[in-house]
Amino acid sequence: MICITGAGGTLGSEVLAQMRAAGAPVRAAFHSADKVDAARTQGIDAALIDFDDPHSLREAFAGCPSLFLLGHNAIDQTELELAAVDAARSAGVRHIVKQSVIGAQKEDYSLARVHRPVEQAIEASGMMWTFLRPNSFMQNVLTFMSPTIRAESAFYSASGEARISHVDVRDIAAVAVQALLRPEHAGHAYTLTGPDAFSYDELAETLSSAVGHTITHVDLPPNELRYGMVDMGMPDEIADRLLDLERYFRSGEASPVTDDIERVTGRAPRRFADYAREIAPMLR
Ligand SMILES: NC(=O)c1ccc[n+]([C@@H]2O[C@H](COP(=O)([O-])OP(=O)(O)OC[C@H]3O[C@@H](n4cnc5c(N)ncnc54)[C@H](OP(=O)(O)O)[C@@H]3O)[C@@H](O)[C@H]2O)c1
Repeated sequence: MICITGAGGTLGSEVLAQMRAAGAPVRAAFHSADKVDAARTQGIDAALIDFDDPHSLREAFAGCPSLFLLGHNAIDQTELELAAVDAARSAGVRHIVKQSVIGAQKEDYSLARVHRPVEQAIEASGMMWTFLRPNSFMQNVLTFMSPTIRAESAFYSASGEARISHVDVRDIAAVAVQALLRPEHAGHAYTLTGPDAFSYDELAETLSSAVGHTITHVDLPPNELRYGMVDMGMPDEIADRLLDLERYFRSGEASPVTDDIERVTGRAPRRFADYAREIAPMLR
């Protein structure tokens, strides 16, 4: 049995779907009770967890030698994931595949510093590990940018002309499936990127062609972007984390392209232009 946390989210739901398609025995761990109910009606072994409640984690992880660990974007994400690592060890988990972030090993931006202590705790735990270090998700277009794209035909960043090798979560999930099913991936950290790097202006051009009208990238000074995020109700700490991510993008550190997805899955990573065509109806 393989437990998948974050199973109701953007990446975890794709990991769950691909694991089921592979015929692997899975337990899907959700934080929302309605998602547990919905999964059970589909015959999925489902558990209700709260990273704040170690008992719920130990119950969910019991009988699962392998665990896909995905923490949500919370102020105390590091502490919550560390508690999950402890719970995994006491529940008898032997291999953790952890969702991390590009460049976690260098710890030179805030999200890397959120994830790296968890990686280190897993390394020190005696459990086997595989770290997935993806770049920015292509799916962020729908998750975060689509409201203003639909309302104003525009989206906002403070990334300037930075090039970013955005990656499709379906490819991250495909790597997660291989890592969960094949022991040879233990002890490896994979940097997961799309097949090319492009700026937000170029992303806007690709979206415009797919949607059929002009979508504009508005490059804001960091302080203005922060003001907008906090004004929409985002906690200061999370806004600061995202602004530091924009700084990281501007430094060019998120522009490299790797072949880790192709090496692990045997197929090339998806291109943004294809993804843009798929989601175009949802942006009109
Ligand atoms: N977005 C990016 O571009 C990007 C790039 C690299 C790395 N990452 C990393 O990827 C992760 C986010 O992945 P995602 O976008 O797939 O996440 P997501 O869609 O936000 O899903 C997070 C899941 O966490 C669950 N959750 C919320 N609160 C919880 C709690 N207290 N206890 C247990 N589970 C809880 C939710 O479960 P329910 O659905 O059941 O409510 C939700 O499905 C983060 O660690 C982030 O740093 C993101």
